[in-house]
Amino acid sequence: MATRVALRSIVKRTGRGENTRTMPNKDVVIVVLAAGKGTRLKSSLAKVLHQAGGRSLVESVARTCFQLSPKKILAIVGHQAEQVTAAVEPLGVESVLQQPQNGTGHAMLVAKRAIGNAKIVVVLPGDAPLIRTETLKALIHTHRSGNAAATILSAVVSDPSGYGRILRKSENSVAAIVEDSQLTAEQRELNEINSSIYCFSVDKLWPALAQVKPENKHREIYLTDAIAVLASKGETVLAQIAPDPREALGCNTRADLAEVDAIFRERKRNELMDAGVTIQLPETVLIGPDVTAGEDTIIEPGVQLLGKTRLGFRCIVRTGSILNNAVLGDGVTVEPHTMISDSHLDGGNTVGPFARIRPGSHLKKGARVGNFVETKKAVIGEGTKVPHLTYIGDAKLGSHTNIGAGTITCNYDGANKHPTTIGNRVFIGSNSVLVAPVKIGDGAYIGAGSAITENVPPNSLGLGRSRQTTKPGWAAKKRREMAASGHDQKSHKLRKHASSKKKSRPRRKR
Ligand code: UD1
Ligand code: CA
Repeated sequence: MATRVALRSIVKRTGRGENTRTMPNKDVVIVVLAAGKGTRLKSSLAKVLHQAGGRSLVESVARTCFQLSPKKILAIVGHQAEQVTAAVEPLGVESVLQQPQNGTGHAMLVAKRAIGNAKIVVVLPGDAPLIRTETLKALIHTHRSGNAAATILSAVVSDPSGYGRILRKSENSVAAIVEDSQLTAEQRELNEINSSIYCFSVDKLWPALAQVKPENKHREIYLTDAIAVLASKGETVLAQIAPDPREALGCNTRADLAEVDAIFRERKRNELMDAGVTIQLPETVLIGPDVTAGEDTIIEPGVQLLGKTRLGFRCIVRTGSILNNAVLGDGVTVEPHTMISDSHLDGGNTVGPFARIRPGSHLKKGARVGNFVETKKAVIGEGTKVPHLTYIGDAKLGSHTNIGAGTITCNYDGANKHPTTIGNRVFIGSNSVLVAPVKIGDGAYIGAGSAITENVPPNSLGLGRSRQTTKPGWAAKKRREMAASGHDQKSHKLRKHASSKKKSRPRRKR
């Protein structure tokens, strides 16, 4: 369906009006059709569980419906019913099992009892997640004020193939919806499509559906056929054109999923940019639906912000970084190619480049974590620096402490994890291993290259390495001996080179 939709359709923009204020919809039941398999996706996962824009299709639809405050939201489930139910239940959606799936009209009949005595039923397909609440509000308003039996949300698109087409009786009324497979050559030219989103007056729907026969190649009961039945009875059937035809995009193929995902991502980036965030080369940046960011934050190209990530004001997230459930205070700089998951950075921190902040890390104000540093379940105290080549796991570091390059907390003994506690204003010399459980007191010093296995009290020096021995003149003497026996490195190499010249051995690639 790529390029199917007329992006700049010259359509009369109905549907966005002053009458779309939130009004109670306590006489409305919403039905989300989500029982189909989605054969065209070629997937073991039910269609509506596929993701676009960071959420499953059916979850996006359910969230949009929720905003209407209806009496009830129903999901018609069939394929992978349990998983689909689990996806929408937390949103207060009730599911109704349709087994087998004999078409969209059959799905409505299955839901009849659950729809009960509602006045209006709003029907949506579970595979068209771009629909907006505002558009649905406008549709319901049109339906109510027009006293209609049915009101269809339609869209005018440049490539209508695959969709049912709206056959109009007059400018204001509809005669029928004709499915793509049943179009005459002339009807094929129609470019007003059925979005599969409708309002029905419940008392008119049931008698009409009762007259629909499964007269199509799939032998299914099509909800779309109820439209012709209503129109032929002289009932009012309206079609309202969606203000943005992209809202009608259904996801039948992987290409449709990609197109819908791209639109969701663009919407999200625009939302953040409207809120005062700078995004460079926006089309390269992927942002999840629940992410927030404060004013004057800058996001460089190729960044992913996922999960419940929240960025404060004036943060910079540089290129190639991936943040998942990361909470950043104000003025945090994330240098290139850094990963942060399930962690808190209080503010004024710098992390990376090439840092990996794993779950349960907490960087207090101004703490710095530099290149090739990994942290996990670690508190890095205020103003503390872990600048390079270090692993800090299951550890608590006080404030204004300095961790030398190559320091490792040995938190794992092969069976259990143990904690390391480091106090305030501690200095850990480079290339030290701290074998947990171990405590380093405030103000202590650890000599470089130490293996620390015992606690170091405050203000003490901990040194855990063998003493250095220096033998003056030793190297010079060694070289003289080697030269005398013809074994020094240089002459050895020269001889080798001379002998290999004739054979012209291929050089080793570096
Ligand atoms: C449907 C419409 C078509 C419209 C298009 C818009 C019909 C017959 N056709 O076609 O006019 O242009 O949507 O996207 O309605 N489902 C059930 N139970 C069933 C069959 C389907 O719950 O027995 C659900 C599917 O899971 C899906 C939705 O209904 O979410 C629509 O079904 P789908 O097969 O995608 O219909 P389309 O061929 O796209
Ligand atoms: Ca569809």
